[in-house]
Amino acid sequence: MHISTTINGDETEFVCAPDETLLDVLRDRLALTGAKEGCGTGDCGACSVTLNGRLVCSCLVLGAEADAAEIGTIEGMATGDNLHVLQRVFIEKAALQCGICTPGILVAAKALLEKNPDPSETEIRYWLAGNLCRCTGYDKIIQAVQVAAAEMRSA
Ligand code: FES
Ligand code: FES
Repeated sequence: MHISTTINGDETEFVCAPDETLLDVLRDRLALTGAKEGCGTGDCGACSVTLNGRLVCSCLVLGAEADAAEIGTIEGMATGDNLHVLQRVFIEKAALQCGICTPGILVAAKALLEKNPDPSETEIRYWLAGNLCRCTGYDKIIQAVQVAAAEMRSA
């Protein structure tokens, strides 16, 4: 199938099989390897991207569904050499260890803060409940989102 889409603001075309997932297209055809395959079954959130502004697991989306859509991935989060506030604060607060979950968590957290710039701790925990981390425990991740949100509100 021939697909025309927009990824991180760039018009992009690719060819994929009808049963190929968006995650496989991103990683294997477009060399956008930020989204990770943790489970492949919609359980871990490591493959999180946005599809027309909605947070989705790209392992559960077909590449064909990207046709005429707007896709957002972790590769589009920084602006040139300038990290997004969330990315910078995750580093400053050591909210990652192996980093496998981190792209998905950052994409998910950014989607949350676009909807709700001042989420409570509970709201952050619920929003990120679909993003599993096997390393850090979640406290530093939640704290980093809170700090980044506060910084973004005062910017
Ligand atoms: S790889 Fe998609 S949810 Fe785990
Ligand atoms: S930092 Fe390793 S899975 Fe989250």
